[in-house]
Amino acid sequence: MTNPLRDPRDRRLPRVPGPCALVVFGVTGDLARKKLIPAVYDLANRGLLPPGFVLLGFARRDWGDGDFEQIAKEAAKKGARTGWREEVWHRIAEATKFLPGSFDDDDAFDQLAQLLKDLDESHGTDGNAAFYLSIPPNAFPTVLKQMERTGMADNEQTNSWRRVVVEKPFGHDLASAIELNRLVDEVFTADDVFRIDHYLGKETVQNLLALRFANELFEPIWNSHHIDSVQITMAEDVGIESRAGFYEGTGAARDVLQNHLLQLLALTAMDEPVHFDAAALRAEKIKVLNAVCLPKELAAYAVRGQYDQGWLAGERVKGYQAEEGVKPQSTTETFAAIRLDVETRRWAGVPFYLRTGKRLPRRVTEIGIVFKKAPHLPFAQNDTEELGANQLVVRVQPDEGVTLRFGSKVPGTTMEVRDVAMDFLYGEAFTENSPEAYERLLLDVLLGDAALFPRNEEVEASWRIIDPIEALWTHQDEHHGGPELYRAGEWGPRGADEMLARDGRAWRRP
Ligand SMILES: NC(=O)c1ccc[n+]([C@@H]2O[C@H](COP(=O)([O-])OP(=O)(O)OC[C@H]3O[C@@H](n4cnc5c(N)ncnc54)[C@H](OP(=O)(O)O)[C@@H]3O)[C@@H](O)[C@H]2O)c1
Repeated sequence: MTNPLRDPRDRRLPRVPGPCALVVFGVTGDLARKKLIPAVYDLANRGLLPPGFVLLGFARRDWGDGDFEQIAKEAAKKGARTGWREEVWHRIAEATKFLPGSFDDDDAFDQLAQLLKDLDESHGTDGNAAFYLSIPPNAFPTVLKQMERTGMADNEQTNSWRRVVVEKPFGHDLASAIELNRLVDEVFTADDVFRIDHYLGKETVQNLLALRFANELFEPIWNSHHIDSVQITMAEDVGIESRAGFYEGTGAARDVLQNHLLQLLALTAMDEPVHFDAAALRAEKIKVLNAVCLPKELAAYAVRGQYDQGWLAGERVKGYQAEEGVKPQSTTETFAAIRLDVETRRWAGVPFYLRTGKRLPRRVTEIGIVFKKAPHLPFAQNDTEELGANQLVVRVQPDEGVTLRFGSKVPGTTMEVRDVAMDFLYGEAFTENSPEAYERLLLDVLLGDAALFPRNEEVEASWRIIDPIEALWTHQDEHHGGPELYRAGEWGPRGADEMLARDGRAWRRP
C-alpha cells in the first residue's frame, strides 16, 4: 500500500524499476563494453534492478551465449564503478541472452521478437522492454523498420511499456535530425523516446539546478545586472584516437557544441521550472534555445581550429592531418569557439562564449560565470591591481565541484585586495561516490523518468543554431581556406583569443 503521507515527488529513497528486458543492439561494440554493461552491473550491485530483469544482446558477431557471457563479464569487471561481487554477476549472467544477426536479417529479428516473448514467460518481464540503439547512426532506419515490422515496439499487454534509447549524434544537421525524428516517431510515441546526452547524467550538471534553484544566494544575481559573461568550456587532451571514420566530416561543433555545450548553456540560462519534472524542465530549456541569437558578424565570432603536432604531458604528439584515416588537406575542425547571445530580459547584453577542442592542455569541462566588477571601489587603485572579476565556476569534470573566486585582503598592515578561491569538492563533501552518467541514465530509462533526456524540439532548436555556423565554415573552405592550425598542448588557435579580446575579455585558464 502506498503511504498517503509520502510526496510522490520524493526522490530520496532509491527507486527500483519494475520487471523488464533491456535489449542492446550493438552489444559487442565499444560503447556497450565500456559503458553499458558496466552500468548494468553497477545497478544490479546497488540493488536497483528488479528480479524480473533480463539483458538481451544483439550484434553481427557469431558468438554463443557462453562467449558473450565471458566477454561481458570481462567488460563489467573492467568498467565497474562499484566493487566486484561474483554472486551479482552470476544473477545477471543467468538472465542474459545473446542473439547473433545482421540488421537486415528478417529471420534474426523474428527470432528476437519470439525470444522477448519467451523471456517474458520464463523470467516475468511483464512485457516491458527498452531497446538501446548502440549502433552506427546509418543503421538506425533499418533497425527501427525491423522493430516496426515485428511489432516489437508495440505494448502488447495493457500497462506494459516499450521504450527506445537513441545515442548521439542526433543527425548531421537540421534536415537530417528532422528526418531521424520522423523515423523514430513513426515507431515510438514521443514519451517513449530517450535521447542520451550523457552530460546530463553527470552529477555536477544536475547540481547546477540545485545550486541555482535550491538556494537564495545565487538566483537574485543570475542576470545581466550582475553577470558580465558566461564561458562554457569542454577541453580534451586526447586527439581523435582511432575514431577518424566518425570524426572526419563531423568535427568539434557537431560532436560537442550542438549537444553537450548547448545543453549546458540551456541549464545555465533557463528560468526556474514550475516543477522538477521532464515537461517543466524541457519547457524552460526550449525557451532558452529558441531565444539564442548568433552574432551579426558571425565570421568574427565563430572560430575553428585544427591541432597541429606539438607536445603534451612531455610527449610529442602528431597533428590531426597525420592521424590514421584522416584525409589529406582535411578541413574538419578539432576546435570550435562561438559567441552566442540569449535574447531575453534576463540575459540581454550578456555574451555566452562556448568552446571545445581536442589536444588542449588538459581534460576539463566547466561553466564559468564571470560577474561584473563592483561599480565603485573605495580603495586606492594600486590596492586592487590584483583583483579580477568575481567568478563562480561549476566544474563538471574532473575534480567535480564549485569554486567561488572573490577578492580578499592580503594579510598585513597594507590594504591590498587580491583574488582568492573558495572550493566545494564533491569528493570531500560527500562520502558516497557519484554514479556514472550511464548508470544514472539507464536507470531513468527503465523507470520512465525523462527529465534528463533532450526531446525532438531541443535537438532541432540546437541544429538551428549550428547550421549557419557550418554553412559559414563550408563557405570559408571554398573561398578562404580551412581552419586555423594550433599547436597540440595549447588552448586553441589565436583566433579564439582574438575573438574575446575584441569584446575586451579573455578566456579563463581552467
Ligand atoms: N563509443 C563511445 O564512446 C560513444 C560515445 C557517444 C556516442 N556513441 C554512439 O553510440 C553508438 C555505438 O557506438 P560504438 O562506438 O559502440 O560503435 P561500434 O564500436 O562500431 O559498435 C557498433 C555495434 O553495432 C553492431 N553492428 C554494426 N553494424 C551491424 C549490422 N549491420 N548488423 C548487426 N550489428 C551491427 C556491431 O556489431 P559487430 O561488432 O558484431 O559487427 C557493434 O556491436 C553510435 O551511434 C555512436 O555514435 C558512442
